[in-house]
Amino acid sequence: MKIAVIGGGGREHAIIRQFKKSRYQPELFCLPGNAGIAEDATCVPVGAMEFDKIVAFAKDNAVDLVFVAPDDPLAGGLVDRLQDAGIRAFGPTAAAAIVEGSKAFSKDFMKRHGIPTAAYEVFDDFARAEAYLKTADYPLVLKADGLALGKGVVICASEQEGLQALRSMMLDNVFGKAGSRVVAEEFLTGHEVSLLVFTDGEHVVPMPSSQDHKRAYDNDQGPNTGGMGAFTPSRYYTDAIAAETAEKIVKPTIEGLKAEGRKFVGVLYFGLMLTEKGVKVLEYNARFGDPETQAVLPLLETDFVDVVNACIDGTLDRLDVRFADKVGFCVVIASGGYPVNVVKGYPVTIGDLEGVTLIHAGTAIKDGKLVTNGGRVFCLTTVADTMEEARKTVYREIDKVSFTDSRYRRDIGVK
Ligand code: AMP
Ligand code: GLY
Repeated sequence: MKIAVIGGGGREHAIIRQFKKSRYQPELFCLPGNAGIAEDATCVPVGAMEFDKIVAFAKDNAVDLVFVAPDDPLAGGLVDRLQDAGIRAFGPTAAAAIVEGSKAFSKDFMKRHGIPTAAYEVFDDFARAEAYLKTADYPLVLKADGLALGKGVVICASEQEGLQALRSMMLDNVFGKAGSRVVAEEFLTGHEVSLLVFTDGEHVVPMPSSQDHKRAYDNDQGPNTGGMGAFTPSRYYTDAIAAETAEKIVKPTIEGLKAEGRKFVGVLYFGLMLTEKGVKVLEYNARFGDPETQAVLPLLETDFVDVVNACIDGTLDRLDVRFADKVGFCVVIASGGYPVNVVKGYPVTIGDLEGVTLIHAGTAIKDGKLVTNGGRVFCLTTVADTMEEARKTVYREIDKVSFTDSRYRRDIGVK
């Protein structure tokens, strides 16, 4: 069995690692992969948006399954392209991935189906948006409509901050086309939880809940990032909240997408806010989260290949999908300037690691040496019986991974 994973970050490395545990012993490829993935799979220098090359590679090499992990190729229709070419692919079609690709779409969709979310307005016109901001309550959340590497959300404390963010999105195009339409949204407070589910479009298997750490610095200070660490399960996501989420959020989402001709097959990620007025959706992602995957996926006990196939075949209800009742935990090791100003190419040294798994996110080999090649460089993960033990293990080992200007949060799992 040949499996190709599309992407090349920490999430993709964790996915490859999980496939490696399969009893089918698949031959693994990663397009394009990274230096760590290259130790677990054959990396092929093809980018995630090079659809023609990906289709050709899958055909020429008789690949049995292509797993599309990142948001851009999903929103761009890579799964549709693969399916049209007769290649088995995991992930939503473009029609379904729009729940992540357009925040305006996802907000209107939630409204149509009565799914709880923050109150909002959508603007295509700068003058109208500007007028709205002058009468709005603060704090207010402004979101670029399209994909913006997880950075298209600005929490505005005042009208002045709102106008500044609006100008940068709509006039200065800092997020490119993604910011030509904006969503202005009510600011919600509460605990934030990530819920990832496997779905075949009708049936759903929730994974254990998790918590991301989006801000760059300790105590949730500094700019938003792609995520600086994660753990599972969330202590706030009680059985009662899980039942409420299943009934009021997950079920109407899956049914609504199917009813609108956008049947969603793959991993659907619900970014949730546990507010005083119940659980609300902050956002959907049409894929595994990064770094949530690095914390959650190692707990999967059922063969990952079977789970993926059951999603594609519409037989998820017939598979007993189990997760270990343990704590999954990971801390991201980032470049000093991340997320603002990333310097690449620093050599990395790695000592003898014990009790942890080193997942590579942004690494490359240059002149035969391992070097940094991105903002998030590594993700150090572990599975343990308790959070205390998990934290202790990862923070005991983490300084064995070193490069110039490296940085990580010290408070993952404290909250
Ligand atoms: P998103 O990409 O939509 O998940 O937004 C990134 C982060 O911004 C979220 O993880 C939240 O921490 C925050 N956020 C987004 N929407 C809201 C909201 N309506 N109220 C408060 N915080 C929000
Ligand atoms: N960790 C958040 C995301 O993957 O979007």
